[in-house]
Amino acid sequence: MKLALTYNTKKEISNAEKVSEASVNNSEAGKYINKELVENYPERVDDTFAEWDSMETIDAVKTALETGGHKVSLVEANPDAFEKLKDINPEFVYNVAEGFYGASRESQIPALLEMLNLNFTGSDSITIGICHDKSRCKEILSYYKIPNSKFFLTDKIIPTNNLGFPKFVKPLHEGSSKGIYNSSLVNNVKELNIEIERIKDCYKQPAIVEDFIDGKEFTVAMLGNGDDVKVLPIVEMNLDFVPEGFNKIYSYEVKWFFDTRENQLDIFTCPANIDDSLYKNIEKVCKDAYKVLRIRDWARIDVRLDKNNVPNIIEINPLPGILPDPRDNSCYPKAARHAGMDYNSMINAVLDAAIQRIKNK
Ligand SMILES: Nc1ncnc2c1ncn2[C@@H]1O[C@H](COP(=O)(O)OP(=O)(O)O)[C@@H](O)[C@H]1O
Ligand SMILES: [Mg+2]
Repeated sequence: MKLALTYNTKKEISNAEKVSEASVNNSEAGKYINKELVENYPERVDDTFAEWDSMETIDAVKTALETGGHKVSLVEANPDAFEKLKDINPEFVYNVAEGFYGASRESQIPALLEMLNLNFTGSDSITIGICHDKSRCKEILSYYKIPNSKFFLTDKIIPTNNLGFPKFVKPLHEGSSKGIYNSSLVNNVKELNIEIERIKDCYKQPAIVEDFIDGKEFTVAMLGNGDDVKVLPIVEMNLDFVPEGFNKIYSYEVKWFFDTRENQLDIFTCPANIDDSLYKNIEKVCKDAYKVLRIRDWARIDVRLDKNNVPNIIEINPLPGILPDPRDNSCYPKAARHAGMDYNSMINAVLDAAIQRIKNK
């Protein structure tokens, strides 16, 4: 098939030293991260590009699709994409674009593909937009009584101390642990207000303040549609491996500073080492969430257990990270490997799910 692959990539770093200086000096985030980390990993302080793929990932997806027998044109998700897609007129689009600007940035390519009446992999513009806004997503989950933590939104500091702590504070619409630091877990109103200010300062958006769910964490890769949706082997996060002195959360520090290619944390177990009934409960909650949000083809869902061992949805990624190198500990490819799919089969399985979905319409 003639395919287009829509994507965004991190910008190339040409002069590492210059960039690392700039990161520390210019990044708002740099002010808030642990000093030791800033000194040891200056080039990673700036999280501007955290969500976007590396060219290595995009090349791997392209190769995988070519191995599947397809002809692939690359289309970067920028303002030229519309004309480019019209020119190429692909039979199908493989979409992994995270978008550039705005809360609905992940919806922009899907919306444009809908306008061009092109078939594409993954969720439509509505679902992708809703999942990218953590509050809108939770509102729908709550309507359908799918467990998730209580929350409120704010961009103003809070005068009162009787909210009930601990709370967890995140930017409303970011991904890849952007804006989620060790300090995101707060124990009093003073800490909470620092986080609200930080998020407003750094990310120009409201904070979502959630009840902290402190049980085991899992991430669940899903593939397919309707009654055929498959839950791939569940990945358990062993947050006990987070270095001492840091909170047990999958924060920006853990994801990008501690768990690196050179120094991998032994943080994941796949399949999760839990009893059958809990395993089934997690699968059920994820399938329910997938259904009510009308997710298509694939997604990765983060889950944590509450005090009663009930799986709560933390967030839903309809465009999961798919780093090809196993040393990068990317969870969707990890789950796929445990289901017997190598990277190439995984990428093609998503396309097959999309093709099948359209056939079944
Ligand atoms: N309400 C919460 N209670 C406990 N931990 C949370 C909560 N929300 C997020 N976390 C922790 O923070 C991590 C990142 O949050 P998440 O919403 O998944 O952000 P991202 O979109 O950046 O992946 C989670 O993997 C989890 O460890
Ligand atoms: Mg997450």
